[in-house]
Amino acid sequence: MNQNLEQDRRTFLLSAIYGLWALIGLLLAIPASIYLLWPPRPKKEDVWVEAGTVGELKLDAPAELVFRRNRVDGWKVASEKSTTWAVKVSDQEVIAFAPQCPHLGCAYHWNAAKHEFLCPCHASTFSIQGDVLTGPAPRALDRYELKIEQGKVLVGAIRKSGGDAG
Ligand code: FES
Repeated sequence: MNQNLEQDRRTFLLSAIYGLWALIGLLLAIPASIYLLWPPRPKKEDVWVEAGTVGELKLDAPAELVFRRNRVDGWKVASEKSTTWAVKVSDQEVIAFAPQCPHLGCAYHWNAAKHEFLCPCHASTFSIQGDVLTGPAPRALDRYELKIEQGKVLVGAIRKSGGDAG
């Protein structure tokens, strides 16, 4: 009789321990399952960012504008510095070039004396419109999407240029 009681007690304790483990496993599995089934969606970057104002640009005189853009990676938001070479064509039209040379990604600059963009890495040159004047750059400068609102220059995503070196 005593042995049966001891056996029942042991069975009950084992069942309770296994039940507790199962409960802990379930509690751990729920958040993992939610994460795997519905992962956090990467939020879109701030699509349009103010890079400067039309008023600070002079006609036919490219200026390097510095701005910050938020990059969202999962739950992490990082603010990154970006630049553009902006060319004011008129009060209603501005071109914003991506800051990397389309050859191997070096930073280029405006050479006012020669009225052209010059990449110091391999001496590619580009016109004020971004077209290749001398290689080895394989295509024109890439451009930011751009819009002007209340005198502010807003830049969006970078659009790769399609033009070959001519
Ligand atoms: S990276 Fe600009 S010419 Fe090579």
